[in-house]
Amino acid sequence: MKLTTAGESHGKALVAIVEGLPAHLRIDEEQINTELALRQSGYGRGGRQKIERDKAEILTGVRNGETLGSPVTLCIYNKDFANWESCMGSGVCDEGVMAQKRLTKVRPGHADLTGVLKFDQIDARNVLERASARETAIRVAAGSLYKQYLAQLGVEIGGYVKEICGIVDENTYTFEQIRLSKTTQTGMLDSQTETRAIEKISALKTEGDTAGGVVEIRVKGLKSGFGSVMTYAEKLDAQLAQGLMSIQAVKGVSVGAGFAVGKKSGKDIHDEIFYDEKKGYYRTTNRAGGIEGGMSNGEEIILSVAMKPIPTLMKGLQTVDYTTKQQTVAAAERSDVCAVFALEIIAEAVVAQVLASAVKARLGGDTIEQVQARYNELP
Ligand SMILES: Cc1cc2nc3c(=O)[nH]c(=O)nc-3n(C[C@H](O)[C@H](O)[C@H](O)COP(=O)(O)O)c2cc1C
Repeated sequence: MKLTTAGESHGKALVAIVEGLPAHLRIDEEQINTELALRQSGYGRGGRQKIERDKAEILTGVRNGETLGSPVTLCIYNKDFANWESCMGSGVCDEGVMAQKRLTKVRPGHADLTGVLKFDQIDARNVLERASARETAIRVAAGSLYKQYLAQLGVEIGGYVKEICGIVDENTYTFEQIRLSKTTQTGMLDSQTETRAIEKISALKTEGDTAGGVVEIRVKGLKSGFGSVMTYAEKLDAQLAQGLMSIQAVKGVSVGAGFAVGKKSGKDIHDEIFYDEKKGYYRTTNRAGGIEGGMSNGEEIILSVAMKPIPTLMKGLQTVDYTTKQQTVAAAERSDVCAVFALEIIAEAVVAQVLASAVKARLGGDTIEQVQARYNELP
């Protein structure tokens, strides 16, 4: 499976080419759009979400509701492009508008300064338009295709928001309970914790400040043996970490007990193994988070993903204007205060992409029926 995404934040559109899906997979377009709407929601999002009503168009690879086995091209048109065409179009742009939209007061924590220097740009917009997490809209659309593929094998991905700017939900939840996270304002499941998180986001907004947080992603129903111990590149935990770290603003990924493994002894970390005629091999704990030796072990996969606070602060941090080298206050473009709910949706999509690739690598299959038959034969 191969995924390529393209598109600038205020450009005409975002596109994705999804290669490797088998033929005969039924595609539910409504499901794609439901996930896109979830990515746009959550308490603390900025003004852009009021302009866009993301809808994915399928341009290639699907006929009569089913994949053909050819590359699937997805497209999301940016409504905001209408307001930016004169300075973001591919033809000759309006110099006056370009100067007005030029960003030189580079934002700490963003790609602006390093990108301007690396790509020898006079306008940080030529970098930030791609650095922007608007790109994740098309990854969520592609992720929905991967989820629909995995669903044919009985694999389901879920998640919830565990922490927003230091407000932590310490509860543990069943997979059934975490499905409810999509119905709350922040993606948090505990209403008292959520109320405190909302108060925190509101206070930060008033102060011109921003929030980050932590989400937990879970995968139910994946059989053992996906990924491989044999080469470092095939290790499933390594692939998941790579995918999740590629999401804008993600600064930490952990599997199972995560960093707690360094604090405890072996008897309190490793999951003991049992056997039952009916169940086969099983464990009564899952501190490994469903992955041992770079392979799924049949238990739920549990991942934690940490996002730093949004780098654009309305209050503005100290920076340097690279055209004058003078100390100044960073630019404040319209921006989110908190996007941790969105991160949860994006992280699900990325996990779906990695797992679908691992399934394809192990089972191949020209048609979804072949993939299902091969999957069902596995213990
Ligand atoms: C869902 C989501 C929404 C985001 N919204 C904003 C935003 O409105 N303003 C902003 O400055 N950064 C936002 N970011 C973060 C930046 O895109 C990111 O910090 C920046 O591209 C630099 O990349 P890095 O943080 O991975 O180093 C968002 C990230 C995500 C995942």
